[in-house]
Amino acid sequence: MTESIAISSGKGGVGKTTIAVNLALTIAKLGKKTLLLDADLGMANAHIILGLNAEKNLDDFVNGNTNINKIVVEVNSKLDFISGGSAIHNLLNLNETERYKIIKSFSSLKKNYDTMIIDVGAGADASSTGFMAASNKNIVIVVPEPTSFVDAYGLMKAANFDHKLQNFGIFVNNSNNEVHAKNYYDRFQVIFSKYLDINSNFIGCLKTSQNIKNSIMSRRPVVLDKTNQEEIYSFQAFSKNLEKIKTNDSKGIKFFED
Ligand SMILES: Nc1ncnc2c1ncn2[C@@H]1O[C@H](COP(=O)(O)OP(=O)(O)OP(=O)(O)O)[C@@H](O)[C@H]1O
Ligand SMILES: [Mg+2]
Repeated sequence: MTESIAISSGKGGVGKTTIAVNLALTIAKLGKKTLLLDADLGMANAHIILGLNAEKNLDDFVNGNTNINKIVVEVNSKLDFISGGSAIHNLLNLNETERYKIIKSFSSLKKNYDTMIIDVGAGADASSTGFMAASNKNIVIVVPEPTSFVDAYGLMKAANFDHKLQNFGIFVNNSNNEVHAKNYYDRFQVIFSKYLDINSNFIGCLKTSQNIKNSIMSRRPVVLDKTNQEEIYSFQAFSKNLEKIKTNDSKGIKFFED
């Protein structure tokens, strides 16, 4: 069975794509056969952070021009990638039928994967919560700012209301250090567990880092450079904590299920 893990956020620009790409590389490095899916349709840019150009992408698949197996790109021996395309294609307003077609297609992938990491678009619209519900596990990225807190709260509320999702792993990006990140999570958790019927775990954090900024500019993911010890460690700790997240057993279609 492939474990599918959705990375989402309420507020945009909090680091989802950076985190999804480096987490996928880290899990692959640990030996698991991994697939990274850019499902931020309309605003897809994981290929830019990953430093590759996919010839075909989900846009070609949705429009019937190609088979799902033909849009899988090999990044390295353990990591494959499916690109969402560029920001100027037709997937911005993906309808339910098209989303269903994408999710359904994963059971016909020829290769087997241990893990799939999904970069989901920001916000709590039907597309984002639909991809979250199709995944086994859900991660919400927050940054220590009130706007991020309010938007993450709104996202979890919507995912819970629309799809009965109850379990979330919370990752704090742009923290000063681990104590700062945990304190922020604790304060957040007290509020949302009072008003929402959900369970959560603190599953990791990342400091604001010049190495990350440089890695985006050079289109070479931060964990690929051995000198970036602190960031590599953060992603290794994060990948170990994935097992803490409880699986969501929502109804409806799931990735890799017939
Ligand atoms: N820990 C960090 N330290 C420094 N810069 C960071 C960090 N995390 C993310 N960034 C920077 O923040 C910017 C936004 O990151 P990213 O594109 O990954 O966010 P996103 O949540 O995927 O955005 P969107 O909602 O638009 O998809 C990028 O320029 C990235 O380099
Ligand atoms: Mg993104």
